[in-house]
Amino acid sequence: MRDGPLVLAVETSCDETSAAVLRGPREVLGHTILSQDAHALYGGVVPEIAARAHLAALDDVIEGALREARIRLDDVDLFAATAGPGLIGALLVGLTWVKSAAFAIGRPFVPVHHMEAHLFATFVEDATASPPFVGLLVSGGHTLLVHVLAWGRYELLGETRDDAAGEAFDKVARILGLGYPGGPGIEASARAGDAERYAFPRPMLLSSQTPESPDFFDFSFSGLKTSVSTRVRDIERAGRLAEETANLAASFQAAVVEVLVAKTMRAVRATGTNRVVLGGGVAASRALRDALTAALGEGATLHVPSRRLATDNAAMIACAGLFRFGRRETGGLETTARADLPFPGLSRRADHYEAIGA
Ligand code: KG4
Ligand code: ZN
Repeated sequence: MRDGPLVLAVETSCDETSAAVLRGPREVLGHTILSQDAHALYGGVVPEIAARAHLAALDDVIEGALREARIRLDDVDLFAATAGPGLIGALLVGLTWVKSAAFAIGRPFVPVHHMEAHLFATFVEDATASPPFVGLLVSGGHTLLVHVLAWGRYELLGETRDDAAGEAFDKVARILGLGYPGGPGIEASARAGDAERYAFPRPMLLSSQTPESPDFFDFSFSGLKTSVSTRVRDIERAGRLAEETANLAASFQAAVVEVLVAKTMRAVRATGTNRVVLGGGVAASRALRDALTAALGEGATLHVPSRRLATDNAAMIACAGLFRFGRRETGGLETTARADLPFPGLSRRADHYEAIGA
């Protein structure tokens, strides 16, 4: 058994209530994740329902993780909780629980940035998923392309100008009646479809762009969603939506995947790195994984989290929390949650990249 402190981490930023016990950064002793299904009815997360559901479930979820790890709360050396970004009411439930427990039993606690934790998720299971690498974070709330020089040293290459990649999946799934969250529904439907049936736009992907173009690494998915929506309206009017759903899902998915892969390849070339790490719920997409693997070829390795660690989970919060603890970045009683918490250690892209062939 490896050494290291026992960390209890909690994640409640969106619609998963999760708790994890890790010994050191990578040994998961207990891990519970409860996905709230109440939101499916509304086709999206309802913040007030999410906060109440976290409150109702959290004690049991934490108890479950402790039981699986065969430890008691008293045994915990370090507490960590997501402090943002996310839904403020939801965040406060987890953060307040953890902060109170830490102070009650006299242990340190660390506030964790949710998106930084997504960068650590793959590393929990795969020690080689460590810096330097290009990180593509694709979740329901964010789309970030980051050059990870070292843990804690991040250069932002690109981000979405409007909707996140996962959000686009969710919105299009809603239009097509494929359920919530949208990614898995779109992926399943797309398997039976023809990805070339509809030529949807590839937003912000033009061969005329150069590394100096402000949108060279950036994303935009809102126009693509509108384009699908317009098409769907025409097809529906013609009474052919049922027979075209799989083709629409496949064509939409292909557009998103092509843009994500192309921008990641630009980042790989511009940074000269030979490792790419995926994070966030959309990392569960088989279509994205396969297309990235093919594009990277022999030149670079793709590291992907398991499905369980791709979507929101507390194991990644524990791992990132331990890193921040190593830097003595503990929280105090005054530490609170922030819906727009800034990404720690993130700087804008350095202008000096040599974009060889990018
Ligand atoms: O990281 P995550 O669990 O939550 C946030 O931090 O937002 O990501 C959730 C997102 C949802 O938008 C969901 O539709 C998407 O991940 N997702 C997928 C797949 N599985 C989940 N998107 C595409 N393909 C999938 N297989
Ligand atoms: Zn997330």
